[in-house]
Amino acid sequence: MRIAIMGAGNVGGGLGAALTRVGHTVVFGVRDPNSDKCLAALGAAPGSTAAHPREAVEGADVVAFTLRWDAVPGTVAELPSLAGRVVIDAMNRLGGDPGRSTSQDLADLLPGARIVKAFNTIGFENLTTAHLRQEPAAMFVAGDDADAKRVAMDLAAELGFRPEDAGPLANAKPLEEMVKVWLALTQRHGRGVGFAISEG
Ligand SMILES: NC(=O)c1ccc[n+]([C@@H]2O[C@H](COP(=O)([O-])OP(=O)(O)OC[C@H]3O[C@@H](n4cnc5c(N)ncnc54)[C@H](OP(=O)(O)O)[C@@H]3O)[C@@H](O)[C@H]2O)c1
Repeated sequence: MRIAIMGAGNVGGGLGAALTRVGHTVVFGVRDPNSDKCLAALGAAPGSTAAHPREAVEGADVVAFTLRWDAVPGTVAELPSLAGRVVIDAMNRLGGDPGRSTSQDLADLLPGARIVKAFNTIGFENLTTAHLRQEPAAMFVAGDDADAKRVAMDLAAELGFRPEDAGPLANAKPLEEMVKVWLALTQRHGRGVGFAISEG
């Protein structure tokens, strides 16, 4: 698939490296393709390219947002309509309105886009190493569009995660809140820690 990643920082770069490893075509949507961050992301994701966000989304099957929230409204304002497109929100916003997730706000900014929350409940380092774990880490995926959710779950599985359907997009906020728990766990277990499912 052709996957446009908005941002080329920790999460964008990690996701790009992981997705190119399993054969996807990645284009980073960035404000400066020559920034140190973007050059590092390009180097870690062989075959990837970088462009202005509005060019990066052209023809993309999936658009993933890996920006800090403050950068989202300005970036979206420069994009064409993404109506009908699968949009993965990997962002967290731990301040601001406690009742609003980035996914809900992104959905308001991108009418008609098929928004899915995913790849936000684990540290960025684990995106490229998920396939090396003895026990797969769970990757929670929330969304209201079943087909879009399937796309994100399949991508998570390809990267080595155990994808878990975490319910509707309304659950995006609890998924953002889980990051607080993940951060607390890193104090004892380090940043390689991940959530896992235990079935009784
Ligand atoms: N760090 C983690 O382990 C982790 C894990 C899961 C989710 N998240 C979430 O993922 C998101 C990104 O985190 P990160 O750690 O990857 O951050 P980061 O390394 O700082 O990367 C942020 C990206 O946003 C871009 N950006 C920042 N301000 C911008 C602006 N005004 N206009 C356009 N682009 C702008 C940056 O581009 P420039 O290089 O041009 O500044 C960079 O590509 C956050 O929402 C975070 O909460 C983080």
